[in-house]
Amino acid sequence: DISSFKLPGDFLMPAIGLGTWPMRESEASDAVTSALNIGYRRIDTAENYQNEQAVGLGLRNSGVPRDEVFVTTKFNKQWHSATGVRQALQNSLNRLGLDYLDLFLIHWPNPEQGTFVQAFTEMQKLVDEGVIRAAGVSNFKPAQLQVLLDAGLTPAVNQIQLDPERRSAPWQAFNTEHGVLTEAYSPLGRGKSEFLQHPTLLQIAAAHAKTPAQVTLRWHVQSGRAAAPKSANPLRQAENLDIFDFEISTAQMAQIEALDTGAGPFTDSDEFGH
Ligand code: A2P
Repeated sequence: DISSFKLPGDFLMPAIGLGTWPMRESEASDAVTSALNIGYRRIDTAENYQNEQAVGLGLRNSGVPRDEVFVTTKFNKQWHSATGVRQALQNSLNRLGLDYLDLFLIHWPNPEQGTFVQAFTEMQKLVDEGVIRAAGVSNFKPAQLQVLLDAGLTPAVNQIQLDPERRSAPWQAFNTEHGVLTEAYSPLGRGKSEFLQHPTLLQIAAAHAKTPAQVTLRWHVQSGRAAAPKSANPLRQAENLDIFDFEISTAQMAQIEALDTGAGPFTDSDEFGH
């Protein structure tokens, strides 16, 4: 069963979650409500997306019990200290209207200041206290992850930008080698039409009576990777969750892997806002 992945403590993370960037306000709350009603059980947000209040509202409006939903958020660079992490968590919980998180992520490593070890050390305490169920990172390169590992700290998840054209195999391999689950953000290549109409994807999609987006998401989960596709549209949300009734062959997996341009994940700046 690849509809979820196991995090430390035998706690399950649904393989597909709703990405919420760059939705705001009613667009974000409506998208969260519809996704949960369709059957999503994981929502991905961030302080930086400025939509946590809307995400919390969408969750309450859905009527789905809080404990059935896996909620992830991420904190900004300004909070990379022990007290900062606690403040960031409290702020996010207040905005979301929740009293615990399933997964809390360092959004960007902020390597210039080298403060992510301090931040992660405190996050580990928050796990022990039960106010976050798991602690992880985002946009961490292998060398940055190594700094945490050297300090005896293992994030549950490293969420990175990853799609068939930006595959970054060495990044995922490094995560896997160290017991860190890889999660793809922008798993559909941001929905660019040149990508979702790539002849290779169209051909594999036709062979399974699926869409290129479904083939791409299935490729992610068959590769042992969680993914958080964003869609504001209930039909596309449903499409993106409907990937558990077919299997991509080894040869087709290789064809998708051959689409890699070597571009790698986006990591050098957070100005982009994601
Ligand atoms: P929309 O919100 O209108 O559905 P990513 O998650 O890689 O960043 O991609 C998100 C982009 O892809 C959004 O523009 C979204 O548009 C679009 N998108 C999401 N799901 C699908 C799909 N199944 N088919 C086509 N486009 C999609």
